[in-house]
Amino acid sequence: MSRLKVKDIFQENIVDVEATVKGWIRSVRNSKKFSFIVLNDGSAQQSIQIIVDEVLPNYAEVAALLSGSAVAITGRLVKGGGKVQSIEMQASLVEIIGKVDETYPLQKKATSLEFLREQAHLRIRTNTFGAIMRVRHHLAMATHEFFSKKGFFYLNSPIVSGVDAEGAGEMFTISTLANDITKAPKTKDGKLDFSKDYFGKETFLAVTGQLEGECYAMGLGSIYTFGPTFRSENSNTTRHLSEFWMIEPEVAFADLDEIAGLATDYIKYLISYSLLHAAAELEFLFAREDSTAPKDHLEVLKHVRDSKFIRITYTEAIEILSKIDPAVKKFEYPTIWGHELQTEHERFLAEEHFKMPVIVTDYPKEFKAFYMKLNDDGKTVKAMDILVPGIGEIIGGSQREDNLERLEKRMDEMNMNKDPLWWYLDLRRFGSVPHAGFGLGFERALMYITGVNNIRDVIPFPRTPKNCDF
Ligand code: 4AD
Ligand code: MG
Repeated sequence: MSRLKVKDIFQENIVDVEATVKGWIRSVRNSKKFSFIVLNDGSAQQSIQIIVDEVLPNYAEVAALLSGSAVAITGRLVKGGGKVQSIEMQASLVEIIGKVDETYPLQKKATSLEFLREQAHLRIRTNTFGAIMRVRHHLAMATHEFFSKKGFFYLNSPIVSGVDAEGAGEMFTISTLANDITKAPKTKDGKLDFSKDYFGKETFLAVTGQLEGECYAMGLGSIYTFGPTFRSENSNTTRHLSEFWMIEPEVAFADLDEIAGLATDYIKYLISYSLLHAAAELEFLFAREDSTAPKDHLEVLKHVRDSKFIRITYTEAIEILSKIDPAVKKFEYPTIWGHELQTEHERFLAEEHFKMPVIVTDYPKEFKAFYMKLNDDGKTVKAMDILVPGIGEIIGGSQREDNLERLEKRMDEMNMNKDPLWWYLDLRRFGSVPHAGFGLGFERALMYITGVNNIRDVIPFPRTPKNCDF
């Protein structure tokens, strides 16, 4: 007997054959002589309806099964009777593989996303998380396809790092000294003696793979990383994770304009790909009763896919924001040149002012990382952030400072220790070329496309401050 995936049954329209399907029961409805089982095997958004006749020897046991039970059902696939062209199975054999009892946490009524976060080991068995995680898979595939087709090479940048590459100090230290902190060697001034640590120096979980990506772009031309990154920022928001995934392309002989174009094409590709490969999932997510996606999200995504992105400088953004009548929109944070754009400003620009993704460039150097290329004005850097409705920043990127003297000067201004970055400076010392890149927050992209408004719901096992269960 051939075992089939529900996805293939519907996609290939397989009828009038005997087959076995294996999955988890979504619901059982008993009528006089039949039981109707709705079975989902995770392969697709769609479940298959299976009709179990009372003549089956274990009918009583089957009819008493609760949602969540695992079964293998063999039977004949036939055209369904409903309005929509569908396929059902007439069971000839129901094998009960794993039962659930009344203590199963995923009861019909208790399935709010908040509740399911506490059941992260089981939540994938709901239609909602099945949909989100299949979209996640497709966005990952879209990413590899997009960059690979463009001739970029996939680089695995290290997860253990010796530098605070973003200079934000939001690092997780990796140390074996902490295995028995009472015996940990200390320096004269009472600090941990990292020279006696596992790596002989202080090391961290990577906040980015960019600096290593730059090294490899200087030989392969175009690379992209796609891996987990870690930040100990204490912002318990709906858009921040302590462990998140980032895609970071880096391109040699490229300037800011080129990567702004690349980023635009990439976001559009993610939209097109998910509309093509995960249409049923998106449709389901947008139609959910407590969906947080805008009403017309599908149309909006198609519009974004087909339109030019807005591009403005930071200075222009400040001009726009400072002219907004407080009676129309009151901001909590100042909209004065030299102040950081806050999420409220980013969202206002993308969501209310332009109603489109917005590329903001040329930020004051003071609140951007050391590696960004200084503009001729001496005040701003060749940075870009891409802001999208509903979220704010989804991409951060820049042209890199490729001039050794200028880079060293900037690091000195920022009181950085240049020693651990000798190799990064070498890239400017030997065969230096203009280059640029960006980082896309994978979970933020998923939030944007699915319309799910809490980042904890688009990653399998979220890590946030005071939360590392599972
Ligand atoms: O703007 P960021 O900090 O840029 C970098 O890390 C650069 N090294 C990228 C580069 O030029 N190669 O982060 C990039 C993106 C942000 O725009 C955001 O989407 C996401 O990463 N991000 C987070 N996502 C979830 N949780 C967090 N705590 C995040 N911090 C940043
Ligand atoms: Mg940023």
